[in-house]
Amino acid sequence: MTAEILAPTPDSIARAAALIRDGALVAFPTETVYGLGGDATNDRAVARIFEAKGRPQFNPLIAHVTDAAAAQAHVVWSETAERLAAHFWPGPLSLVLPRRAGCAVSLLCSAGLDTLAVRAPAHPVAQALLRAADRPVAAPSANRSGTVSPTRAEHVAPALGDGVALVLDGGPCPVGVESTVVDLTMPKPTLLRPGGATREAIEALIGKLVLGPAIGTPGALHAPGQLESHYAPSLPVRLAATSVSADEGLLAFGADAPRGAALTLNLSPAGDLAEAAANLFAMLRVLDQPGIASIAVMPIPDRGLGLAINDRLRRAAAPRP
Ligand code: TXA
Ligand code: MG
Repeated sequence: MTAEILAPTPDSIARAAALIRDGALVAFPTETVYGLGGDATNDRAVARIFEAKGRPQFNPLIAHVTDAAAAQAHVVWSETAERLAAHFWPGPLSLVLPRRAGCAVSLLCSAGLDTLAVRAPAHPVAQALLRAADRPVAAPSANRSGTVSPTRAEHVAPALGDGVALVLDGGPCPVGVESTVVDLTMPKPTLLRPGGATREAIEALIGKLVLGPAIGTPGALHAPGQLESHYAPSLPVRLAATSVSADEGLLAFGADAPRGAALTLNLSPAGDLAEAAANLFAMLRVLDQPGIASIAVMPIPDRGLGLAINDRLRRAAAPRP
Protein backbone atom coordinates (compact mmCIF):
# COMPACT_ATOMS: atom_id res chain seq x y z
CA MET A 1 0.00 0.00 0.00
CA THR A 2 1.37 3.42 -0.88
CA ALA A 3 0.62 6.44 1.24
CA GLU A 4 -2.08 8.87 0.30
CA ILE A 5 -0.81 12.19 -1.09
CA LEU A 6 -2.99 15.15 -0.15
CA ALA A 7 -2.89 18.84 -0.96
CA PRO A 8 -2.41 20.87 2.23
CA THR A 9 -5.80 22.18 3.40
CA PRO A 10 -7.00 22.87 6.93
CA ASP A 11 -8.63 19.40 6.84
CA SER A 12 -5.63 17.45 5.59
CA ILE A 13 -3.33 19.29 7.99
CA ALA A 14 -5.67 18.48 10.90
CA ARG A 15 -5.66 14.84 9.78
CA ALA A 16 -1.88 14.79 9.54
CA ALA A 17 -1.59 16.31 13.02
CA ALA A 18 -3.99 13.71 14.43
CA LEU A 19 -1.90 10.93 12.86
CA ILE A 20 1.23 12.38 14.44
CA ARG A 21 -0.44 12.59 17.84
CA ASP A 22 -1.42 8.91 17.36
CA GLY A 23 2.21 7.92 16.82
CA ALA A 24 1.98 7.49 13.02
CA LEU A 25 4.40 9.04 10.50
CA VAL A 26 3.52 11.83 8.09
CA ALA A 27 5.68 13.25 5.30
CA PHE A 28 5.45 17.02 4.98
CA PRO A 29 7.14 19.80 3.02
CA THR A 30 9.71 22.09 4.56
CA GLU A 31 11.56 24.85 2.72
CA THR A 32 14.61 22.57 2.50
CA VAL A 33 13.42 19.01 1.73
CA TYR A 34 10.41 16.84 2.63
CA GLY A 35 10.56 15.53 6.18
CA LEU A 36 9.31 12.22 7.60
CA GLY A 37 7.64 13.46 10.76
CA GLY A 38 6.69 11.71 13.97
CA ASP A 39 5.87 12.76 17.53
CA ALA A 40 9.32 13.55 19.00
CA THR A 41 8.04 12.84 22.51
CA ASN A 42 6.90 9.32 21.59
CA ASP A 43 9.62 6.63 21.69
CA ARG A 44 7.69 4.27 19.44
CA ALA A 45 7.02 6.95 16.82
CA VAL A 46 10.69 7.91 16.78
CA ALA A 47 11.71 4.24 16.54
CA ARG A 48 9.34 3.92 13.57
CA ILE A 49 11.17 6.75 11.80
CA PHE A 50 14.50 4.92 12.08
CA GLU A 51 12.85 1.75 10.83
CA ALA A 52 11.08 3.38 7.87
CA LYS A 53 14.31 5.06 6.74
CA GLY A 54 16.61 2.13 7.43
CA ARG A 55 18.63 4.67 9.37
CA PRO A 56 21.47 3.70 11.72
CA GLN A 57 20.31 4.22 15.32
CA PHE A 58 23.45 6.20 16.18
CA ASN A 59 22.45 9.03 13.85
CA PRO A 60 20.26 11.52 15.77
CA LEU A 61 17.21 13.36 14.41
CA ILE A 62 16.22 17.02 14.34
CA ALA A 63 13.26 18.06 16.53
CA HIS A 64 11.13 20.59 14.63
CA VAL A 65 9.43 23.34 16.60
CA THR A 66 7.35 26.40 15.75
CA ASP A 67 9.79 28.96 17.13
CA ALA A 68 12.56 29.79 19.59
CA ALA A 69 10.18 29.86 22.57
CA ALA A 70 9.09 26.29 21.79
CA ALA A 71 12.73 25.18 21.37
CA GLN A 72 13.62 26.53 24.80
CA ALA A 73 11.27 24.03 26.44
CA HIS A 74 13.61 21.24 25.30
CA VAL A 75 17.17 22.59 25.14
CA VAL A 76 19.46 24.83 27.20
CA TRP A 77 19.36 28.10 25.31
CA SER A 78 22.34 30.44 24.95
CA GLU A 79 23.13 33.93 23.75
CA THR A 80 24.55 32.54 20.51
CA ALA A 81 21.46 30.40 19.99
CA GLU A 82 19.30 33.47 20.53
CA ARG A 83 21.26 35.53 18.04
CA LEU A 84 21.14 32.81 15.38
CA ALA A 85 17.46 31.99 15.92
CA ALA A 86 16.48 35.67 15.87
CA HIS A 87 18.12 36.02 12.47
CA PHE A 88 17.50 32.68 10.75
CA TRP A 89 14.29 31.27 12.26
CA PRO A 90 11.97 30.24 10.94
CA GLY A 91 14.41 28.91 8.35
CA PRO A 92 17.03 26.38 7.22
CA LEU A 93 19.24 26.31 10.33
CA SER A 94 19.40 23.53 12.95
CA LEU A 95 21.03 24.22 16.31
CA VAL A 96 22.57 21.46 18.42
CA LEU A 97 22.20 22.35 22.10
CA PRO A 98 22.30 20.50 25.44
CA ARG A 99 19.05 18.72 26.32
CA ARG A 100 17.28 20.32 29.24
CA ALA A 101 16.82 18.30 32.41
CA GLY A 102 13.48 16.52 32.03
CA CYS A 103 13.41 17.19 28.27
CA ALA A 104 10.22 15.60 26.90
CA VAL A 105 11.84 14.68 23.58
CA SER A 106 12.61 10.98 23.22
CA LEU A 107 16.24 10.04 23.90
CA LEU A 108 16.09 8.03 20.68
CA CYS A 109 15.76 11.33 18.83
CA SER A 110 19.14 12.29 20.33
CA ALA A 111 20.51 8.81 19.59
CA GLY A 112 21.40 8.60 23.27
CA LEU A 113 23.48 11.82 23.26
CA ASP A 114 22.89 14.55 25.84
CA THR A 115 22.33 17.05 23.00
CA LEU A 116 19.37 17.76 20.73
CA ALA A 117 19.16 19.42 17.32
CA VAL A 118 16.24 21.87 17.06
CA ARG A 119 14.92 23.76 14.05
CA ALA A 120 11.93 26.01 13.31
CA PRO A 121 11.12 25.45 9.62
CA ALA A 122 9.84 28.34 7.52
CA HIS A 123 7.49 26.44 5.20
CA PRO A 124 3.88 27.48 5.93
CA VAL A 125 2.64 23.86 5.74
CA ALA A 126 5.32 22.73 8.20
CA GLN A 127 4.41 25.59 10.53
CA ALA A 128 0.68 24.78 10.30
CA LEU A 129 1.36 21.10 11.00
CA LEU A 130 3.56 21.88 14.02
CA ARG A 131 0.92 24.20 15.46
CA ALA A 132 -1.84 21.62 14.93
CA ALA A 133 0.23 18.75 16.35
CA ASP A 134 1.11 20.93 19.33
CA ARG A 135 4.34 19.08 20.08
CA PRO A 136 7.89 18.82 18.71
CA VAL A 137 8.08 16.74 15.53
CA ALA A 138 11.15 14.61 14.82
CA ALA A 139 11.80 14.65 11.10
CA PRO A 140 14.70 13.45 9.01
CA SER A 141 14.57 13.83 5.26
CA ALA A 142 11.83 11.54 3.93
CA ASN A 143 14.07 9.17 1.97
CA ARG A 144 15.75 5.83 2.64
CA SER A 145 18.97 6.42 4.53
CA GLY A 146 21.89 7.18 2.20
CA THR A 147 19.80 7.99 -0.87
CA VAL A 148 18.88 11.27 -2.59
CA SER A 149 16.68 13.54 -0.44
CA PRO A 150 13.12 14.29 -1.61
CA THR A 151 12.26 17.78 -2.82
CA ARG A 152 8.87 16.82 -4.31
CA ALA A 153 5.94 14.96 -2.71
CA GLU A 154 6.11 12.24 -5.37
CA HIS A 155 9.69 11.38 -4.35
CA VAL A 156 8.55 10.27 -0.91
CA ALA A 157 6.14 7.35 -1.12
CA PRO A 158 8.00 4.94 -3.43
CA ALA A 159 10.95 4.81 -1.04
CA LEU A 160 9.15 4.64 2.29
CA GLY A 161 6.05 2.65 1.37
CA ASP A 162 4.13 1.46 4.41
CA GLY A 163 6.26 3.48 6.80
CA VAL A 164 4.38 6.68 6.02
CA ALA A 165 0.64 7.16 6.63
CA LEU A 166 0.13 10.36 4.67
CA VAL A 167 2.11 12.75 2.45
CA LEU A 168 1.23 16.44 2.43
CA ASP A 169 2.03 17.82 -1.02
CA GLY A 170 3.40 21.34 -0.77
CA GLY A 171 4.97 21.33 -4.23
CA PRO A 172 8.72 21.69 -4.84
CA CYS A 173 10.86 22.68 -1.84
CA PRO A 174 12.15 26.22 -2.47
CA VAL A 175 15.62 25.85 -0.89
CA GLY A 176 16.29 22.28 -2.02
CA VAL A 177 19.21 21.34 0.28
CA GLU A 178 18.87 20.43 3.95
CA SER A 179 19.30 22.81 6.85
CA THR A 180 22.71 23.92 8.02
CA VAL A 181 23.59 22.12 11.27
CA VAL A 182 25.58 24.17 13.80
CA ASP A 183 26.74 22.56 17.05
CA LEU A 184 26.68 25.04 19.93
CA THR A 185 27.77 22.50 22.55
CA MET A 186 31.42 22.63 21.47
CA PRO A 187 33.90 25.16 22.88
CA LYS A 188 33.37 27.10 19.63
CA PRO A 189 30.32 27.01 17.30
CA THR A 190 30.98 24.17 14.88
CA LEU A 191 29.55 23.65 11.40
CA LEU A 192 28.49 19.99 11.25
CA ARG A 193 26.66 20.18 7.93
CA PRO A 194 26.59 23.03 5.41
CA GLY A 195 23.06 23.74 4.21
CA GLY A 196 20.43 26.30 3.36
CA ALA A 197 21.75 28.98 5.73
CA THR A 198 25.12 29.98 4.32
CA ARG A 199 28.34 29.81 6.31
CA GLU A 200 29.04 33.42 5.30
CA ALA A 201 25.74 34.67 6.73
CA ILE A 202 26.22 32.74 9.98
CA GLU A 203 29.81 33.96 10.39
CA ALA A 204 28.72 37.56 9.77
CA LEU A 205 26.52 37.16 12.84
CA ILE A 206 28.61 35.12 15.32
CA GLY A 207 32.16 35.06 13.91
CA LYS A 208 34.23 32.20 12.50
CA LEU A 209 32.81 28.70 12.63
CA VAL A 210 34.94 25.68 13.35
CA LEU A 211 34.46 23.29 10.43
CA GLY A 212 33.19 19.85 11.35
CA PRO A 213 35.45 16.92 10.48
CA ALA A 214 33.52 15.84 7.40
CA ILE A 215 33.61 19.29 5.84
CA GLY A 216 36.67 19.63 3.67
CA THR A 217 38.27 16.40 4.88
CA PRO A 218 36.64 13.55 2.96
CA GLY A 219 36.89 10.22 4.74
CA ALA A 220 36.53 11.60 8.26
CA LEU A 221 33.81 9.97 10.34
CA HIS A 222 33.50 11.67 13.63
CA ALA A 223 30.28 13.32 14.71
CA PRO A 224 27.09 11.32 14.24
CA GLY A 225 25.63 11.72 10.79
CA GLN A 226 28.97 12.49 9.23
CA LEU A 227 28.69 9.39 7.10
CA GLU A 228 30.74 9.75 3.97
CA SER A 229 28.56 8.04 1.32
CA HIS A 230 25.13 9.67 1.39
CA TYR A 231 22.68 11.41 -0.92
CA ALA A 232 23.69 8.78 -3.46
CA PRO A 233 21.86 7.97 -6.70
CA SER A 234 22.28 4.40 -7.92
CA LEU A 235 24.70 5.44 -10.71
CA PRO A 236 28.34 6.38 -10.06
CA VAL A 237 28.95 10.13 -9.83
CA ARG A 238 32.01 11.88 -11.32
CA LEU A 239 32.80 15.37 -10.00
CA ALA A 240 34.48 18.45 -11.50
CA ALA A 241 33.76 17.28 -15.03
CA THR A 242 34.90 19.67 -17.77
CA SER A 243 34.24 17.21 -20.59
CA VAL A 244 31.71 14.44 -20.96
CA SER A 245 31.34 11.13 -22.81
CA ALA A 246 28.34 9.91 -24.80
CA ASP A 247 27.21 7.37 -22.19
CA GLU A 248 27.21 9.88 -19.33
CA GLY A 249 24.42 12.07 -17.99
CA LEU A 250 25.66 15.61 -17.39
CA LEU A 251 24.63 17.77 -14.45
CA ALA A 252 25.69 21.14 -15.80
CA PHE A 253 26.13 24.52 -14.13
CA GLY A 254 26.45 27.85 -15.91
CA ALA A 255 26.52 28.81 -19.55
CA ASP A 256 29.46 26.74 -20.82
CA ALA A 257 28.28 23.13 -20.58
CA PRO A 258 30.33 20.66 -22.65
CA ARG A 259 28.32 18.96 -25.40
CA GLY A 260 27.79 15.31 -26.22
CA ALA A 261 26.29 13.77 -23.07
CA ALA A 262 23.49 11.19 -23.30
CA LEU A 263 21.33 13.66 -21.37
CA THR A 264 22.17 17.10 -19.99
CA LEU A 265 20.32 18.92 -17.22
CA ASN A 266 21.50 22.36 -16.13
CA LEU A 267 21.28 23.26 -12.43
CA SER A 268 21.36 26.92 -13.37
CA PRO A 269 22.28 28.16 -16.84
CA ALA A 270 22.70 31.63 -15.31
CA GLY A 271 25.10 30.28 -12.65
CA ASP A 272 22.77 31.11 -9.76
CA LEU A 273 23.57 28.99 -6.67
CA ALA A 274 20.09 29.30 -5.10
CA GLU A 275 18.50 28.04 -8.31
CA ALA A 276 21.09 25.25 -8.47
CA ALA A 277 20.37 24.14 -4.87
CA ALA A 278 16.63 24.05 -5.56
CA ASN A 279 17.20 21.84 -8.63
CA LEU A 280 19.97 19.60 -7.25
CA PHE A 281 18.17 16.54 -5.87
CA ALA A 282 15.36 16.44 -8.45
CA MET A 283 17.86 16.61 -11.34
CA LEU A 284 20.06 13.90 -9.78
CA ARG A 285 16.96 11.68 -9.70
CA VAL A 286 16.15 12.31 -13.37
CA LEU A 287 19.74 11.58 -14.46
CA ASP A 288 19.76 8.37 -12.42
CA GLN A 289 18.11 6.31 -15.17
CA PRO A 290 18.70 3.21 -17.31
CA GLY A 291 20.69 3.87 -20.49
CA ILE A 292 23.07 6.20 -18.67
CA ALA A 293 26.35 4.73 -17.37
CA SER A 294 27.32 7.43 -14.88
CA ILE A 295 26.58 11.00 -13.87
CA ALA A 296 29.17 13.71 -14.56
CA VAL A 297 28.88 16.96 -12.61
CA MET A 298 30.47 20.26 -13.63
CA PRO A 299 32.47 22.24 -11.03
CA ILE A 300 30.39 24.42 -8.73
CA PRO A 301 31.83 27.39 -6.82
CA ASP A 302 32.46 26.64 -3.14
CA ARG A 303 30.78 29.71 -1.69
CA GLY A 304 27.29 30.54 -0.41
CA LEU A 305 24.91 27.67 -1.13
CA GLY A 306 27.70 26.11 -3.22
CA LEU A 307 29.22 24.78 0.03
CA ALA A 308 26.08 22.70 0.72
CA ILE A 309 25.74 21.66 -2.93
CA ASN A 310 29.37 20.48 -3.08
CA ASP A 311 29.03 18.67 0.27
CA ARG A 312 26.04 16.68 -1.06
CA LEU A 313 27.78 16.00 -4.38
CA ARG A 314 30.97 14.82 -2.66
CA ARG A 315 28.97 12.35 -0.63
CA ALA A 316 26.98 11.26 -3.69
CA ALA A 317 30.34 10.50 -5.36
CA ALA A 318 31.95 8.83 -2.32
CA PRO A 319 32.73 5.09 -2.39
CA ARG A 320 29.57 3.16 -1.55
CA PRO A 321 29.46 0.86 1.47
O1 TXA B 1 16.53 20.46 6.36
C1 TXA B 1 16.59 19.55 7.18
O2 TXA B 1 17.36 19.57 8.14
C2 TXA B 1 15.65 18.35 6.96
C3 TXA B 1 14.22 18.84 7.11
C4 TXA B 1 13.22 17.70 7.07
O3 TXA B 1 14.09 19.60 8.28
N1 TXA B 1 15.97 17.31 7.89
C5 TXA B 1 17.12 16.58 7.79
O4 TXA B 1 17.25 15.62 8.76
O5 TXA B 1 17.93 16.76 6.92
P1 TXA B 1 18.33 14.46 8.65
O6 TXA B 1 17.97 13.53 9.76
O7 TXA B 1 18.36 13.90 7.29
O8 TXA B 1 19.68 15.16 9.01
C6 TXA B 1 19.92 15.63 10.33
C7 TXA B 1 21.38 15.90 10.53
C8 TXA B 1 22.19 14.63 10.54
O9 TXA B 1 23.41 14.88 9.90
C9 TXA B 1 22.40 14.39 12.03
O10 TXA B 1 23.56 13.65 12.30
C10 TXA B 1 22.50 15.79 12.57
O11 TXA B 1 21.56 16.53 11.82
N2 TXA B 1 22.13 15.84 13.99
C11 TXA B 1 20.90 15.73 14.53
N3 TXA B 1 20.94 15.75 15.87
C12 TXA B 1 22.23 15.94 16.21
C13 TXA B 1 22.94 16.01 17.46
N4 TXA B 1 22.29 15.96 18.63
N5 TXA B 1 24.27 16.16 17.41
C14 TXA B 1 24.93 16.22 16.21
N6 TXA B 1 24.32 16.13 15.01
C15 TXA B 1 23.00 15.97 15.01
MG1 MG C 1 18.90 13.10 5.38
